[in-house]
Parts: sequence; C-alpha cells; structure tokens
Amino acid sequence: MIIKQILDLKKKKGVSILAHNYQSPEIQDVADHLGDSLALSRLAHHLDTDIIIFCGVLFMAETAAILSPDKKIIIPDPAAGCPLADMITPDALRQLKKKHPGAIVVTYVNSTAEVKAETDICCTSANALEVVNSIPNDKEIIFGPDKNLGSWVASQAKRDLILWNGFCVVHQLFSIEKIRELRKAYPGSVVMVHPEVPPEIVAESDIVAGTGGMIRFAGESDADTFIVGTEVNMTYRLQTIYPEKNFIPASSGAICRNMEKITPEKLLRSLDTLSPVVTVPGDIAEAARSAIEKMVKI
Ligand code: 13P
Ligand code: SF4
Repeated sequence: MIIKQILDLKKKKGVSILAHNYQSPEIQDVADHLGDSLALSRLAHHLDTDIIIFCGVLFMAETAAILSPDKKIIIPDPAAGCPLADMITPDALRQLKKKHPGAIVVTYVNSTAEVKAETDICCTSANALEVVNSIPNDKEIIFGPDKNLGSWVASQAKRDLILWNGFCVVHQLFSIEKIRELRKAYPGSVVMVHPEVPPEIVAESDIVAGTGGMIRFAGESDADTFIVGTEVNMTYRLQTIYPEKNFIPASSGAICRNMEKITPEKLLRSLDTLSPVVTVPGDIAEAARSAIEKMVKI
C-alpha cells in the first residue's frame, strides 16, 4: 500500500528518487537510480529533474546539494548521519594542517561540508587511489577521516600518508574466522571487501572495491558466488542485478543504522511535503565545492 502511494506521488510530483546501494530493499525497489556516493552526486547534478529525494546519509545529500545549488535536494531524515564523518572536525583538521604546512589535504566524502571546506581535494572509495596518485610525489598528504581506506590507498600508491584516526563502525564487524569459514563453505567463491574494512580483513580478501566497483567486478567475473564484506544491504543490490549469481554477506550484523533511518514512511512524507531540504551555507558550500569538483575532474 505505502509502496504504491510512493510510486504514485513520485510520478505526480515529477520527483526523482536517488538511493545509495546500502538502502533497505524497500527503498531500493522504489528508487529511480541507485549507486555509490560518487555516482549519485554526479547523477544528481546531471539529471533533468529539479527536485531530488536523496535516500542515503546526510553527507551524501549535502555533496549533491553542494554540486547542484540550483536543485532542491531533499533527505527523508536529516538525522541519518555517518559516525565516521563525525570523527573529524574542521578545528582539529586546521590544527593538523598547521603542523604540516604545505601538505595537501585529501578528504573522503564521508565528511561534513565544513571539513570539506578545509580540504584541497575530496575522494571516494571509487577514486581515492587516483586522487592520491594525481598529487606530486614530493608533497606530503594528509588523508582523513578513514584510516583503513587511507592505509589501503597508501599500500597501493606505495607512499606514506598522514592518516587521520577515523573508522566506520559497521566495517569493523567482520572477522577473519568467519571469512575463512565462508570460503570453506563456498569453494571457488570470491571475497570482495570495501576499503573501509581493517587491513587484516583486506588481507583475507580477493578484491577490494567500493560499492560501485563491487557491482562492476561481480558482472565481469566468471565466479558465481561472492562473499560480500560490506554493509549487508549490498547483497540485495548485487542479487537484484545478477539473479543468476550468489551473494553471501560476510557478516549479517554489518548493518548501517543510519542508512536504515530512511524508511518508506519517511520517504512518503518527504514526497508529500517536499521537505526537509538540505542546505549548506554559501561560503562553506563554495569552499567545499572546489574540493569536490577537483575530485570529479579526476
Ligand atoms: P561507496 O562510495 O563505496 O558507496 O561507500 C560509501 C560508504 O558510506 C561506505 O561505508
Ligand atoms: Fe558511514 Fe559506515 Fe554507514 Fe558508510 S556504512 S554511511 S561509512 S557509518
């Protein structure tokens, strides 16, 4: 019933619904477009529709709002935050920059607009390596807030990064034993993990990729079973795209409680009221836009 109301109202109001790959199956099913954080922000910018309901966490909707100041970006629950994003503050980042004058600041999009405004260039899990590789070798790099993504990038780029000590609580919920057990239970399976997992989990994996990269990899791979080391709803997303393959969560407890705050009820209310609209103060948006646009160019 509520799903039909959402679909009817969406059509009537000419609104596009964008949803992150970690959204619940109910939200994924009513979305017009699904994607990773980078793809969704870009898409929000290029879509014809002026009103977009963004089903994801606040930093993602903020990034879309910063890139598309002329559009109305609505988030069904602005309290859908990201604990990782809150592990770095603009003040603390300014302090670190003072200690490393001349360092280039690379910030993961999982950060607030205020922190992005203190940043030279943003990155996502999809392009963090390219972003770091684009910086001349003689430059120091401050990388935050995710230390796991940072150490994976450092190992791939073969250079030292000054790492912020942040992490995602959801991506701490994987264990070496469970992954080994699943490998045994599904011989020939491929273990894919998100770069937000700790290095010891990366060491157990076959592939490290963001959510968009996992979708691409699963499509190109000859394997038919994949152990998925990221938020649990990603398996529904993969299973919908590739119904002939098998996707097993590496931990059924890896649930992002903030992504979960976006419910069909709140989505329906947003469609009805066209609110709450995401706003970012002009000066902060302008400074943050420069860091995001540099990333998008890469
Ligand atoms: P992706 O950009 O890979 O979709 O990841 C976003 C995120 O929040 C991971 O926890
Ligand atoms: Fe933030 Fe982790 Fe949730 Fe991603 S999964 S939105 S990093 S808390």
